[in-house]
Amino acid sequence: MRTQTAIIGAGPAGLLLGQLLHAAGIDAVILERRSQAHVLSRIRAGVLEPGAVAALRQAGAGARLDAEGLRHDGFSIASDGRALRIDLAALTGRAVTVYGQTEVTRDLMAARAAAGLPTIYDAEDVTIADFDSDAPRVTWREGGRTRDLVCAAIAGCDGFHGVCRQSVPAGAIETFERVYPFGWLGLLCDAPPCAEELIYARHARGFALCSMRSPTRSRYYVQVAADERAEAWSDARFFDELRRRLPEAAAAAVTVAPALEKSIAPLRSFVAEPMRFGRLFLAGDAAHIVPPTGAKGLNLAASDVVYLAEALAEHFIEGSPAGLDAYSARALARVWKAERFSWWMTALTHRFEGDPFGERLQQAELDWLSGSAAAQAALAENYVGLPY
Ligand code: APR
Ligand code: PHB
Repeated sequence: MRTQTAIIGAGPAGLLLGQLLHAAGIDAVILERRSQAHVLSRIRAGVLEPGAVAALRQAGAGARLDAEGLRHDGFSIASDGRALRIDLAALTGRAVTVYGQTEVTRDLMAARAAAGLPTIYDAEDVTIADFDSDAPRVTWREGGRTRDLVCAAIAGCDGFHGVCRQSVPAGAIETFERVYPFGWLGLLCDAPPCAEELIYARHARGFALCSMRSPTRSRYYVQVAADERAEAWSDARFFDELRRRLPEAAAAAVTVAPALEKSIAPLRSFVAEPMRFGRLFLAGDAAHIVPPTGAKGLNLAASDVVYLAEALAEHFIEGSPAGLDAYSARALARVWKAERFSWWMTALTHRFEGDPFGERLQQAELDWLSGSAAAQAALAENYVGLPY
């Protein structure tokens, strides 16, 4: 097989890149190691920056998002029983859209299928080679046979545990990491959200987040120890702990319902530099991870692939290497600002054992936020997403 771009991974980054390349008239094949059903079974984040919404519309996957996405003009940070609303619309003139990543993935898959574009699911033992040449290759096993794909560029959209970053020689890549001593236990249930907007709650017992997928489907999280197991948490225990961490009015508004999904996600900050190795370009979780507190994971995947699609179009259509040469620095500039914000939101709202000085800093930061329009504007600007 031959194609212009081989995309490894059919998560949001790979699927969105495939659609943006198609819109630019560039052909690409997506190779995904799991089944389509498995990819769709993943429950992930749910807040889209305006930039990501625009990219999804450009990719032909914006119709359901526009019809069902929930526009949110603000969110609240709760602490010591009080809630501080951050008025995104008033402070930035922009808003975020609440729409589950599963639905984003579903819409991108549907757009790709409608265009008759090739996605190979259940691709086993995907390997990449010769990406330091102008004819990189991808091989994989399919139905017991070894297949290969010759291309001009490889987009590593295969997530944190993917093969692409691991294929880069150790001396050519530098990684930066911060692992947090806790995780998020998430629960999805068919019940009305406890509030109109998201609530990020700081509490002595630990962090909690009240989010949603629709007016009838809620998504909740509580901070748990890094070694905690989801099986140790009955629905009743989860909801009791959640309500203890919320302001009284929000706690009273929580509707208990059976968990449709319950799982624990570890929290880490991670960046690999650079994001380009010859004809191999990393995008999304393959290159960086953020703690979910800032809702940046999906949004960084979107900005990476918007940059990469523009650069590949310059290369294939205009014959200019400038975009590809600038890709890594351009993407990393935005990645690191989102890493800083996600770290800051996590440090501000989570419980860190045995750190009384840090607790006072959290209180001082929240006191300052509650009284300063400038501080709230800085937070709002980062939450809605810095310019592409
Ligand atoms: N070969 C082919 N596909 C692979 C391989 C491999 N060796 N390894 C992983 N994959 C696939 C995974 O099965 C997954 O479907 O690559 C895809 C990567 O998707 P994500 O992990 O969702 O990463 P990305 O597309 O960058 O999206 C980032 O997803 O995980 C969330 O919080 C994250 O919101 C962020 C978003
Ligand atoms: C979610 O709805 O899953 C969600 C929302 C905001 C976050 C993280 C997760 O910061």
